[in-house]
Amino acid sequence: MEIQAPKGTKDMLPSQAYKWHYVENIFREISKNFGIKEIRTPVFEHTELFLRGVGETTDIVQKEMYTFKDKGDRSITLKPEGTAPAVRAFIESRLFNEAQPTKLYYITPCFRYEKAQKGRYRQFHQYGVEMFGSKEPSMDAEVMALAMGVLKKVGLKSLKLNINNLGCPECRPKYNEALKAFLKENYDSLCETCKTRFEKNPMRILDCKEKSCKEITKNAPIILDYTCDSCNDHFSKVKEYLDVLEIPYSVDPGIVRGLDYYTKTIFEILNDDYTVCGGGRYDKLIEEIGGPEMPAVGFGMGIERLIATIEDENIEVPREDDIELYISARGEEGKMYAFKLAHKLREIGVNAEINHAGRSFKAEMKFANKIGALFNLVIGDDELGTKEAKIKRMKDREEFNIKLDNLEEIKQIIKSQK
Ligand code: HAM
Repeated sequence: MEIQAPKGTKDMLPSQAYKWHYVENIFREISKNFGIKEIRTPVFEHTELFLRGVGETTDIVQKEMYTFKDKGDRSITLKPEGTAPAVRAFIESRLFNEAQPTKLYYITPCFRYEKAQKGRYRQFHQYGVEMFGSKEPSMDAEVMALAMGVLKKVGLKSLKLNINNLGCPECRPKYNEALKAFLKENYDSLCETCKTRFEKNPMRILDCKEKSCKEITKNAPIILDYTCDSCNDHFSKVKEYLDVLEIPYSVDPGIVRGLDYYTKTIFEILNDDYTVCGGGRYDKLIEEIGGPEMPAVGFGMGIERLIATIEDENIEVPREDDIELYISARGEEGKMYAFKLAHKLREIGVNAEINHAGRSFKAEMKFANKIGALFNLVIGDDELGTKEAKIKRMKDREEFNIKLDNLEEIKQIIKSQK
């Protein structure tokens, strides 16, 4: 029987690769413009990191982690997100001793045992950015500007930036009390998970995906009515910075995000179908994971969702180079010559292909067309004798004379006459 990929996973097939490369190139290019360096962390971590980092009352920790015991009886978890691992590495490598802020980005797979559906996978990929060591509101705005800049460069048009202020450990307890007072009346109708959240972390109830809980929280008090002066000041400045950059946004008091570490600014970038990017400030996480007191802000962007949006919006993604030169050969000697020539041309940067399938000479032409080769070169007895040949441009059959031992000339013609 045929074996299929596990539910909630997706192959990136060769026919799709150019779209992934296109967005990844943009991530790297724009990150570079913002002075952000790449970090790669392991695919798995000690489970403890996410319990402390993401939060014990979140859906991710309560329902979605791929957690298992390894052969040494350690509890291991496949990373459900990239922030906690980046913070762990930052602390472990003592990067906090260097000049701050530290600006990091990653492109990583993430794993969450979620109900698989369009745009929601069990293995998905994130482009994430984390800025450590700046409490300035300009950094919140820079992070959002970066995310919007990436999406603009990719070509997306129908995106909305929603922001909110989640307060800090000073003002949030007051909000939690108000929220609990409001939810108390409907406590019995909350889902079982939310009942456990009521005492520990009532704000998590606002993020529950259960219909009944959504209904109950519809008219819940909003955090913006409870935030302290310092959080309000910070939020006003963030908005001012966004205005300076002319980045449109809406304040949405309803967003709370699905992870526990956020303080002050949070944001989401969405289209009609789903959230493509989410992030915010998390000023206490570095300390909670064992590092020094140090503020931070960042985001994660779902790459599958980004690519789905590119497709929905019919954005044309530049294709990568097809085969530039297909070399056909007659006879054993010709074949050997073609084999060596293709190798030599590849060494100097020409994308060349030869007959590896035992095709007849006639079938080779068809094949060259099928794979979209831009030029064709035939090596027969004459060519072997004179070391002169013609390369033919497939689209209009125009021919160019070449000398077989002048590789640079062949390359130059191919690159300039495509
Ligand atoms: P998050 O909102 O959980 O935040 O995930 C960020 C993005 O990852 C989402 O907006 C979405 O595009 C994508 N995503 C999440 N779950 C799935 C899924 N099951 N299938 C496909 N795509 C998905 C974080 O992970 C935070 N670490 C972001 C952050 C970084 N905040 C501060 N720094």
